[in-house]
Amino acid sequence: MSQTPVNPVPQHVAIIMDGNGRWAQERRLPRLAGHNAGAKAVERTLKAAQKAGVKVLTLYAFSTENWTRPQEEIAGLFKLLAQTLSRYTQQADKYGVRLLVSGEREPLPPAILNQIDHAVSSTAHNTRFTLNLALNYGARQEIVHAVNALLREDKKEITVQDISQHLYQPDLPDPELIIRTSGEERLSNFLLWQAAYSEFYFSPVLWPDFDEAEFERALAAYRVRRRRFGGV
Ligand code: FPP
Repeated sequence: MSQTPVNPVPQHVAIIMDGNGRWAQERRLPRLAGHNAGAKAVERTLKAAQKAGVKVLTLYAFSTENWTRPQEEIAGLFKLLAQTLSRYTQQADKYGVRLLVSGEREPLPPAILNQIDHAVSSTAHNTRFTLNLALNYGARQEIVHAVNALLREDKKEITVQDISQHLYQPDLPDPELIIRTSGEERLSNFLLWQAAYSEFYFSPVLWPDFDEAEFERALAAYRVRRRRFGGV
């Protein structure tokens, strides 16, 4: 019998933070209360990831499909994102965190775009940890963005590497582990290209309840996964 594998701590963990609405509904609270509690879970997870030795955390904060939500919820989410971005930008140096934002700029409001640009440029020198916020992000759009960039280079034929190098964050390693909370088990247009060999951990916990213990359970599950990358 082959031995149980012991994978090293993943360098890059990506999370689909799902269940804010249900968390609020269970408490008869407005959906935005769920998002506010979700922002606290982001903080806990960031600390847990740094403590565990993870180097990159990608969080699905707003998808290209989320624009269909009620206007009031979208406004509330963006207010929360602006507050979070501002706080993280101020504290980034203290924790050695570099902020990245992945997604399409259109149709984000100019105020948010300015804030994103400032957050990214003023934290670019930090090397200890990378927080990549997927914002107005869609994986199919990301692949199309890469292909269009290649067309502009007049490529006649493209390789796997060409596409990888023209995604939003060509320098990040692919996520070894993708977590989705709230019991849903699908990718929902998240990192389709980068997830080619990712391990998945589906947690029943609603995102606002996600904590260090659950993050550790995900890492523990990953540690013993047999990763074959198509080999034997
Ligand atoms: C999914 O829950 C969550 C979102 C669409 C937004 C994620 C946003 C946050 C966690 C808030 C703050 C984040 C940052 C980075 C500041 P849902 O609303 O789809 O929940 P439901 O499926 O139960 O309705």
